[in-house]
Amino acid sequence: MKFVHLVFTFICTSLVLTSCKDDKKTETPMASNSDKDYYTEPYRPQFHFSPEKMWMNDPNGMVYNKGVYNLFYQYYPDSTVWGPMHWGHATSEDLLHWKHKPIAQYPDENGYIFSGSAVLDEQNSSGFGSEENPPLVAIFTYHDAKKEGKGNTNYQTQGIAYSTDNGETWTKYEDNPVVSVENSTDFRDPKVFWYEPDQKWIMTLVAGDHAEFYGSNNLKDWELQGKFGTDKGAHGGVWECPDLISLKVEGTDEEKWVLFISINPGAPNGGSGTQYFIGDFDGKNFTTDQMENRWIDWGTDNYAGVTFSNTPDQETIFIGWMSNWLYARETPTETWRSAMTLPRILSLKKVGEKYSLFNYPISNVNDLISETGEENIKIMAQAEDSISSDSLMQSEVLFTTSTKAFELKLGNSDGEELLFKMDGNDQEFTLNRSLSGKTDFQEDFAKTVQTMPVPDLPDGEYEVRILMDKSSIELFLNKGQYVMTAQVFPNQDYNMLKILNTSDEVIEFKEFEINPIARVW
Ligand code: FRU
Repeated sequence: MKFVHLVFTFICTSLVLTSCKDDKKTETPMASNSDKDYYTEPYRPQFHFSPEKMWMNDPNGMVYNKGVYNLFYQYYPDSTVWGPMHWGHATSEDLLHWKHKPIAQYPDENGYIFSGSAVLDEQNSSGFGSEENPPLVAIFTYHDAKKEGKGNTNYQTQGIAYSTDNGETWTKYEDNPVVSVENSTDFRDPKVFWYEPDQKWIMTLVAGDHAEFYGSNNLKDWELQGKFGTDKGAHGGVWECPDLISLKVEGTDEEKWVLFISINPGAPNGGSGTQYFIGDFDGKNFTTDQMENRWIDWGTDNYAGVTFSNTPDQETIFIGWMSNWLYARETPTETWRSAMTLPRILSLKKVGEKYSLFNYPISNVNDLISETGEENIKIMAQAEDSISSDSLMQSEVLFTTSTKAFELKLGNSDGEELLFKMDGNDQEFTLNRSLSGKTDFQEDFAKTVQTMPVPDLPDGEYEVRILMDKSSIELFLNKGQYVMTAQVFPNQDYNMLKILNTSDEVIEFKEFEINPIARVW
């Protein structure tokens, strides 16, 4: 095989990043810390949310109100591994720069505080606030470990709490729990929204192998409406963290409902993953004629993701937990564990005869990105091109192409590499992290080559966008039609990108860019 070796170097390293920055895109972080070592530990994400210290899993209670995005999350303040759950809390005005807040929900006599949601109770239906100052109401699962330990089966119940100061402080409802059933070993993760046609609240929760829908007028008294899923979708593990949203099909007035169900284990590339169903909801029942299993993200590290409530302009904004229960407790970070995905906009498009859910980073991520200039790259048949960039692990790689036969390799001088491969013949995209760096902290971490079928990618040009942040990569094909999110732990930052043409024709990458991304901490 003959290789043509073209090397051009991007001079914009992380050290000289500011001098390369295009002024209009510079922004001062809101949440900064005077300590220059703040958020600089090995593998610490620079433009993703991660807790200051200790263990984090699912995003919870995501609600926007009065200019503030509240993000709560499953948090254990005493260890870097999972334990009695609290709700950690952070706020942001742009979903990128975050302020850490005191813990919002502590375990109480009803149990630990598992995942759940929060809504703005605009009409004060709960009576927890007033019409002038409507409350935020959080709805979460209580997990009673003592009851569980004694062999009972009714240890997961749903509780509520309210805030009249936009999420700063919370009061638990005195008559908690508000929903309980006799056999509730996996009965959890309530996600609530206002269902306009019936003027009532709907709570979606999961009960082992299916979802249940409850209705309420006041967020306190709930009645079962319908159930979905025992005979639909993937069932390789327990159902968790549901979300039910309505979306307009792009370019039409048609409205469809999308039900998200996280599942663990049973994801297509192992461990945890999030499937979705496109269908209809009538206030009681969700129905779908979808036959195949669908996944919001084919990478191993996007779990328990749900959407924000009450967003401006009714945008549907999704955040997931960037890890996987297979190895989340063992990843090689020392002072904290886990990060969230970038916030992503969800949209529904018709591709051929099929509805398809797209997810793509919110547009203000662009405010962190410095454009360094673009090139059109041509690579001869069976040839390779190498590009070096010291800031690769905090960068965006972006280009447009119509080829379906290429490989991208991110590597460092230790010989570690992360490999992406587009195989048009098999209509498949793969991610291989077996040689990506630290992998032996858990046997399953790099065991499988992650595979994503891409049958409906356009025949013509499509965008490839990769966002890398110290220990994560998020890959978006065709603006979010196909997505992979994965963690990586190289022993040294990758600083070399190789592009391989695996076809017998010249291929072209148009408007190719590697752009540094500013840190937000
Ligand atoms: C999902 C999950 C939820 C549960 C929470 C506990 O990752 O298992 O079902 O509420 O985590 O921390």
